[in-house]
Amino acid sequence: MDLESIGMKKGLLYETILTTRNSNGTSNAAPIGVICKNNKEIVLYLHQGSSTVHNIKENKSFIVNILKDPMIFVESTLGNLSKNYFKQYENEFYIKNTDAFFMANVISLKDVKREDNLGISVTTIVKAEVTYINKKKECVEPLNRAIYGIIEGLVYLTRMEKVSGDMEKLYHHRMDEITRIVNKVGGKEHKIAMKNISKAFKKR
Ligand SMILES: Cc1cc2nc3c(=O)[nH]c(=O)nc-3n(C[C@H](O)[C@H](O)[C@H](O)COP(=O)(O)O)c2cc1C
Repeated sequence: MDLESIGMKKGLLYETILTTRNSNGTSNAAPIGVICKNNKEIVLYLHQGSSTVHNIKENKSFIVNILKDPMIFVESTLGNLSKNYFKQYENEFYIKNTDAFFMANVISLKDVKREDNLGISVTTIVKAEVTYINKKKECVEPLNRAIYGIIEGLVYLTRMEKVSGDMEKLYHHRMDEITRIVNKVGGKEHKIAMKNISKAFKKR
C-alpha cells in the first residue's frame, strides 16, 4: 500500500492528527498538516515549542492518523487526548477509531527561519518516509481544506451584490485569506477553481 491507497495526492496538504511518544513513554496527539510529497514520502512544517516537534526530534518516528472526528481535533488542540483514545502499534501509538493510520520514519530534519503571515519564526522541516499503512475503514478521505475554501468563496461571491461598506471590505479580506489557503493546501484544480472565483469576485 502507498499514500494513494488512502486518498493522499502528491502536492496537497492534509490536516491530520499526529501521534508521538513522550520521553516518559506516554502518548501525545496534535493536529498537524502533512504534505504528500509522493507515494511514500511526506513533509511536515513544525513550529517550535510543541511536544510533537520535541518527540519527533527524539524518536525520529511518528504516526499519522487520517480521520475527521471533530472532537478529536478539538480536544487534541485544547489539551491532550485521554489515554483511552490511543492504541499501541509497535513502539508507537495511533488513535483507536481512526479511518486509517500510517507510520513514518524521519529521513531529514532541518531548523529554518521562516516568514509567513504570522511573522518570523523557527520552523523544523521534517521529511519522512512511510513504512507501514493500515487502512481501517473501507472509505478513507483525508482532510484537505481547499474544497471548503472554494465553497466559502462561492458563498461570498453569490452574496457580494447584497453587501456594501464595511461588510464589502470584510468580504474582500476573507476572499484574500481563502485564496491564500487554497493556494497553500490545494492541488492544480483547486487553484484554477479559486482563480476563476477571484476573477468573478473582482468584477462584482
Ligand atoms: C488543523 C490544524 C493544523 C495544524 N497544523 C500544524 C502544523 O502543520 N505544524 C505545527 O507545528 N502546528 C500545527 N498546528 C498547531 C498544533 O496542533 C498545536 O500547536 C498543538 O497544540 C501542538 O500540540 P503538542 O504540544 O501536543 O504537540 C495545527 C493546528 C490545527 C488546529
